[in-house]
Amino acid sequence: MAKPEILLVGPYPEWDLVELDAQYEVRKLYEAADRDAFLQQHGANIRGIATRGELGASAELIGKLPKLEVVSVYGVGYDAVNLDACRARGIRVTNTPDVLTNDVADLGVAMMLVQSRGMIGAESWVKDGSWAAKGLYPLKRKVWGRKAGILGLGRIGFEVAKRLTGFDMDIAYSDVSAKDYADGMTFIADPVELARHSDFLFVTLAASAATRHIISKEFIEALGPEGMLINISRASNIDEDALLDALEAGTLGSAALDVFEGEPKLNPRFLKLDNVLVQPHHASGTIETRKAMGKLVRDNLAAHFAGTALPTPVI
Ligand code: 8YV
Repeated sequence: MAKPEILLVGPYPEWDLVELDAQYEVRKLYEAADRDAFLQQHGANIRGIATRGELGASAELIGKLPKLEVVSVYGVGYDAVNLDACRARGIRVTNTPDVLTNDVADLGVAMMLVQSRGMIGAESWVKDGSWAAKGLYPLKRKVWGRKAGILGLGRIGFEVAKRLTGFDMDIAYSDVSAKDYADGMTFIADPVELARHSDFLFVTLAASAATRHIISKEFIEALGPEGMLINISRASNIDEDALLDALEAGTLGSAALDVFEGEPKLNPRFLKLDNVLVQPHHASGTIETRKAMGKLVRDNLAAHFAGTALPTPVI
């Protein structure tokens, strides 16, 4: 029997490509010099998409694939997949929750520590000879015992909270409702009030049209000149212009960001700031987790084509 044809929207690690090639006729959209010509040539036969969280699948792309049945996302976030276009045609969508939760939480907490203790600057202080020439490194702010706010106490937010208890932090959170598993944490319904209450504010909510720019100018001002914003979700949750204005003016203390509007080409204003820690969207980027994510992408595709229950369906 002919192998089903699938479209790969962005590159996957070699270990996944080998497995996908064995099961499918894999068409690599990201290698095409002319995407339109490529889709005209192959689009009519594509039955599945394997994509990445930040790349998703647009309505335009879906519209060019008349036989599309399933979109398998390598990532927990599916905000870049046009779910309306999928629903309208009965196209199934899957993602990779749970397997990446701990790594994403780890990176968020690491970013808080690195930024608050000034570790990037401290390394330069050693390597560029400043330590020997100028003496002691400037003092930074402590982390333990201070106030953390978590916007979105889902799987990732909860794992962040668990880690923060190890730093004896006062933990508060905001979500659509109070959570019965949030032992020892304070529920603050209004996100702006949460920001006002917090020294470190973690953004861990799933992005959607409803959460776009939930981190508004008002929110950023409430976090204030001593506050730190840590984003391990999606850039669309933040009004990035307001964030840049506040970082430049010092009305927000600092930020630690793994995600950006238009990434990987981020706004050059970020590069001039020394109160921001920038990371290349790699919160789930460990070998162990990426292998588990790749397996889940393949397990979902395999289940779909075998007509069995999808392991992690979105729709
Ligand atoms: C990316 C992510 O999918 O889980 C998500 O939603 O954004 C990430 O895990 C990953 O960087 C691969 O592109």
